Amino acid sequence: MFKNFWYAVEFSSDVKPGKPMKVKLLGQQLVLYRKHSDNSVVALSDLCVHRGAALSDGELKGDCVVCPYHGWEYNPGGVVEKIPAHPDKGIPRKARVDSYPTQEKYKFVWVYMGDLPEEERPPLPDWSVIDDDVNYRAVTGEFLWKSNYERILENGVDVAHTPFVHGGVFGNKEKPEVPEFQIEESEWHCKVSIELNPPRSKGLWGMINPNRQALADRPPVPVSTTWWLPNMILLEIGTPMGALKIFDVNIPIDEETTLVKFVALRSFFKGAWADRDARRRIFKVLYEDQAIVDAVRPELLPFDLSAELHVKSDYNAIKYRRRRQELIEAGWGVEDNTIVGEGPARVEARVIPSPVRKEVPELASAWNYKEVRSRELRMGRGESEVPVRTERRLVMDDPEPPSAAEPTQAATTQDSTQDSTQDKEVKA
Ligand code: FES
Ligand SMILES: [Fe+2]
Repeated sequence: MFKNFWYAVEFSSDVKPGKPMKVKLLGQQLVLYRKHSDNSVVALSDLCVHRGAALSDGELKGDCVVCPYHGWEYNPGGVVEKIPAHPDKGIPRKARVDSYPTQEKYKFVWVYMGDLPEEERPPLPDWSVIDDDVNYRAVTGEFLWKSNYERILENGVDVAHTPFVHGGVFGNKEKPEVPEFQIEESEWHCKVSIELNPPRSKGLWGMINPNRQALADRPPVPVSTTWWLPNMILLEIGTPMGALKIFDVNIPIDEETTLVKFVALRSFFKGAWADRDARRRIFKVLYEDQAIVDAVRPELLPFDLSAELHVKSDYNAIKYRRRRQELIEAGWGVEDNTIVGEGPARVEARVIPSPVRKEVPELASAWNYKEVRSRELRMGRGESEVPVRTERRLVMDDPEPPSAAEPTQAATTQDSTQDSTQDKEVKA
């Protein structure tokens, strides 16, 4: 799983004013809420630095979120403004959590899960057609999947599986050959365009579908599949009735759980009467994929490209795996941002550094959850380190030795921040 990307975490319409909500991705829990003052969305680490409570279980007060445990008030920048037990003492400098940049676009709330400055962040794809409600009708939906998101991503762009997994829907067992395909690619995406021969649609679409000839006489259907890093897919099908475009984000809740959220556009049957049918078709395909992908082993992609046998039709998956290897080598994996609790079970939480850690160097020592400490603690407990493929780049410029948690300016009684390893379980 990778940091330093924009992640769609929720449909915009599902983030309601007046109430914090919990979302989880990359093994890290976030609290999302809308600011009272301007309705913009705030995304904070959902791990109170005091005793690890979930801020998402608290309530909103003005533009702040109030921790449900001892009432500390966090502002949209993640900084504690009030500690009710000690109103007359200063606020410790470490009384802050990471606050992540957000934007609302293409019907989603996107959160930037990383610490790169704005100009270095990977771009969002241009999905502006999602907002074209004149030429397209959209349905949305979500699907919780107990598989790794990379396996799901590869499945989503795999053109050779459709005759076997989706025979009768849009795959055709009589025509399993993958013809020559066009490729368009950049460092952030790969699009494969191809012509396929799906069977005639059934049900509502089949009744109206003008294309009733025998398979051999029907014109082929243009299909393209695109992935964008880190977890986005677009499937485009030029059906005889019109265009179908299915955008989906495969949100890595953790390594083994993925929440798929999709927006499916169609340029035909644009009345609400056809929505239920359109949604049903997508879920049918998802269930067919799920039956296969849940049983794939190893559950996570192998690191070694030669550990599975690739052929020409796997082009876009191979491209993905190569880019993935480069990201690992660049130190964009999230494993080093893990906080490990005590006890026999491996109980952990994750906090990915946010941009302010780099933007404001004076705050370098003001962060309670440090990458270096969690890694050392794991090693100190005799656990093997996460697989390191190459030298990892540290994500913070922290001049302090890792064990020297700093005493804070004013209130030593408030600042019991020596131990960042609270036993903390993150719920899926
Ligand atoms: S745990 Fe949040 S205020 Fe105590
Ligand atoms: Fe599929």
